[in-house]
Amino acid sequence: MFDEIREEPEAIRKTLNKNMDSIQPLINEIKESSFIFITGSGTSYNAAVMLNYTLLENGIRSMAITSSEYSENIIRKLKGKVLNIIFSQSGESSDAISNLELSKENGFKVVGITNEKDSYLSRESDLCVLTYAGEERSVAATKSHAVQISISLLIDFCLKENPGLEKKVDDICGGIGQIIKNSGEVQKYAGKILQKIVFLGAGKCYPVALEGGLKFKETSGVSTESYPTREYFHGPVHRLDRETTVIWITDGTVPDMKIMEKLSASAGNTITIGNGNADLKVASSDGFQKALNSLVHMQLLANFKATGMGLDPDHPSNLSKVVRW
Ligand code: AGP
Repeated sequence: MFDEIREEPEAIRKTLNKNMDSIQPLINEIKESSFIFITGSGTSYNAAVMLNYTLLENGIRSMAITSSEYSENIIRKLKGKVLNIIFSQSGESSDAISNLELSKENGFKVVGITNEKDSYLSRESDLCVLTYAGEERSVAATKSHAVQISISLLIDFCLKENPGLEKKVDDICGGIGQIIKNSGEVQKYAGKILQKIVFLGAGKCYPVALEGGLKFKETSGVSTESYPTREYFHGPVHRLDRETTVIWITDGTVPDMKIMEKLSASAGNTITIGNGNADLKVASSDGFQKALNSLVHMQLLANFKATGMGLDPDHPSNLSKVVRW
């Protein structure tokens, strides 16, 4: 897992370089569609949530839904040109395949985003976007998720017709490289994490909070919950206790102090990720850069927590890389 996290800058760079021109047919489909579903399972669902934020911010009607909840009941009355963008690292998981088939039966266009060029998803989709994470041996997806997120960044750039993608990629990959170089610092914080964790993040950092929770569940088996930051204070905070660590991607805004006050009153401890005074620093407050940098902090924390507990994060029990049933 650690080696694969280290390969992320290269995998992101390759994915963006290879797709820079070939992404245009997907951009056209997005612009021409009246409604877009974005689907996936597990880590791939978390990537779908990130793309959903991206499309909505660009004024495009879309909804992220887990592959398993994408059903005839939900889609059958939708009229117009509907698109289903399916994220699947393997391109072979059964929930992704059944939602591809259901989409086609209903006359929807399907775009597959996958890391496997010879998969069912890449063959059967109307359009396929490949990611270039290379082989991923650890069951816990890390670099294959980072490249999924980089596709949302690319879509965002194309929809906004922004210049300067190369510079943005350099900044993001440089930031990730720096975090990995300082991973000893991250390891110290991993040592402070208790047996229950709450992850908080807002906007594009909410899917990162979801992914942080999933990574810890898979690798160290600790109990985790993830929330959009302010949503946490509408009930769940009632359960916060001294056995819980809160890992919070901060906004760097004034209300943060109020939030910190509330968390400190009940949590065992807190670890903040963000700019300025945060415990674990990210290089920028900009959307994708902050999200990707925070994601790497989360992945490293999960890796170090598991190894610190004497567990093998690459082979969690009861989990397989691809759910084929
Ligand atoms: C994440 O660590 C897992 N590999 C899992 O959540 C995975 O993303 C999910 O099972 C979906 O698989 P897929 O992306 O290959 O379709």
